[in-house]
Amino acid sequence: MSEPKAIPRHVAIIMDGNGRWAELRHKERFYGHIQGVEAVRTTVKAAIRNGVRYVTLYAFSTENWGRPAEEVNALMELFCRSVENETPELKRQGVQVTMIGDRERFPSEVRESLQRIERETATGEALTLILALNYSSRSELTRAARILASRVAAGELDPQQIDEKTVSEALYTAPYPDPDLVIRTSGEMRLSNFLLWQSSYAELYFPEVLWPDFTEEEFDRALEAYAHRERRFGQIRKKQPGHPTPQAEKTS
Ligand code: IPE
Ligand code: IPE
Ligand code: MG
Repeated sequence: MSEPKAIPRHVAIIMDGNGRWAELRHKERFYGHIQGVEAVRTTVKAAIRNGVRYVTLYAFSTENWGRPAEEVNALMELFCRSVENETPELKRQGVQVTMIGDRERFPSEVRESLQRIERETATGEALTLILALNYSSRSELTRAARILASRVAAGELDPQQIDEKTVSEALYTAPYPDPDLVIRTSGEMRLSNFLLWQSSYAELYFPEVLWPDFTEEEFDRALEAYAHRERRFGQIRKKQPGHPTPQAEKTS
């Protein structure tokens, strides 16, 4: 009997290529960001249909503040507008929306919109949609170091007790499992400061498609590729009946 197809529990996506998508059409970069929201809707639908339980979307990095103010401001407005517009449909689909990253730097309208969507979708059980906003791995790990150092200074924590679990628990992502699959669209093959600790053993997938063109079929293709990966976590291939492992062949 064949094994059931492996479905990733958590898919994390670096949504890249909005600007290029717009430039190819001789439009302002912002037009690509607007189209990118449609790809988010598509992804949520495809994730639920496939039984994926967590999706993290990299929507704004700590480095993205370095873009022209015009683009940053337009993105802030788009976040607010999308959150307001999408809430009823996300609730209907059973999606819980949460976020990771430092929200303190956002304008108060954005913070309030985020708080509202978190509150209104809190009971969603079909999918947890985690928005990485003003997020970067290095700032997250630096913050974790600060949290742990403060606990040591307060006498609550013995440095000898600090292990991988303690560190994981001091990250924004503490409530969620590690991503199984990381997708970056647009053909760029880098992680750009995204979930570096959490993706230690994630499978990576780099489709050429620009984010606004990411369809349900593209999502299914990524899951198909994942199902064919062999995750070994530093160990050796599981022995197949009748097929000795390469290690067994070497030593016998
Ligand atoms: C990703 O698309 C969206 C954000 C970073 C907000 P880009 O804006 O990076 O698009 P490209 O990579 O310049 O095409
Ligand atoms: C990564 O994309 C950040 C997001 C998708 C939010 P960037 O476009 O900012 O990354 P680089 O500059 O190509 O590495
Ligand atoms: Mg980019």
